[in-house]
Amino acid sequence: MRIDGRHYRTIWLDEDGWRVRVIDQTRLPFRFETVALASCAEAAEAIRGMVVRGAPLIGATAAYGVALAMREDASDENLSAALARLGAARPTAVNLHWALARMRERLGGVAQAERAATAYAEAAALCDEDVALCRAIGQHGHAVIRERAATRPAGTPFNILTHCNAGWLATVDWGTALAPIYLAHDAGMDLHVWVDETRPRNQGAALTAYELGAHGVPHTVIVDNAGGHLMQRGQVDMVIVGTDRTTATGDVANKIGTYLKALAAQDTGVPFYVALPSPTIDWSLSDGFAIPIEERAAAEVTDLCGLTEAGEIGSLRIVAPGSAAANPAFDVTPARLVTGLITERGVAPASREGLAALFPDLAGKALAA
Ligand code: MRU
Repeated sequence: MRIDGRHYRTIWLDEDGWRVRVIDQTRLPFRFETVALASCAEAAEAIRGMVVRGAPLIGATAAYGVALAMREDASDENLSAALARLGAARPTAVNLHWALARMRERLGGVAQAERAATAYAEAAALCDEDVALCRAIGQHGHAVIRERAATRPAGTPFNILTHCNAGWLATVDWGTALAPIYLAHDAGMDLHVWVDETRPRNQGAALTAYELGAHGVPHTVIVDNAGGHLMQRGQVDMVIVGTDRTTATGDVANKIGTYLKALAAQDTGVPFYVALPSPTIDWSLSDGFAIPIEERAAAEVTDLCGLTEAGEIGSLRIVAPGSAAANPAFDVTPARLVTGLITERGVAPASREGLAALFPDLAGKALAA
């Protein structure tokens, strides 16, 4: 995607050819800053601290984290330590474990002297593949939007609601839920996006709004509680969200608050789609409630981060002193509430049969621990 006329991916190799450069998403939308990750520890910390976030980008960063570790010390012991360190950085997005399993498999039989170069090449290939998967999701999702929009009266924009950020910032490029929106917009469709602010980290207000704005897509930020009201009034034609882990049966873990949108969509007859690349499917799980849900710091709830009047990025306490705060970061939307799963191979019903029909080569394959 382009920022100020320059094309960026979210992760790339620095000019020195070995450090890994990423966009610091904790500074957006107020500052566009990049940081160089120079060690496996720094890559793990960037994932934990949400400098990078979004399931596909977490996986890509972990892959490069392994490459950085192999540059430091390519021994079997250090490979195991790197996989363990990176694997513990965040619990819910399965792409992290998928990427690490892929790196382990690729590096296992490789001589230590070759491991760093092999790991960098594999991480780069994984990133290129992510771009291709997201672009394909965009094409299939665009077809769904076109089909749905054909039933709308002419002269009114097609309204899509999204939650959190599942755009290019959450992936290597293009995004998952936003890729179809970018393609539809570029094809000249009259569409408008309702952007849930997505408390507590405000990925919608800060990141999705920033992305859509940079691409010129008409959008409006709403508080998380407004979606049901808009659906009741016929102001939402379709919901598209991303996912951090989807079970083999089509249950979907995504940013906290997604489930409530799915309930409202079901009640009001609004189609609810989830966009995902196949590395987000956890073929070992049949029950969404088995997905580990990340609990994050209470401070993310008690304090709001934003731009102060002085133009500095700062935080502001909004909760009464002494009150406890809980911060589950994801929730699970059962497959029965999902209209369809938009993948790189097409749209699947949210069911074991639906996913297995699209991915017969992957269905039933659990990640090696
Ligand atoms: O906590 P985050 O920002 O890493 O969570 C990301 C999400 O939940 C997004 O909604 C997204 O859809 C999943 S990644 C494409």
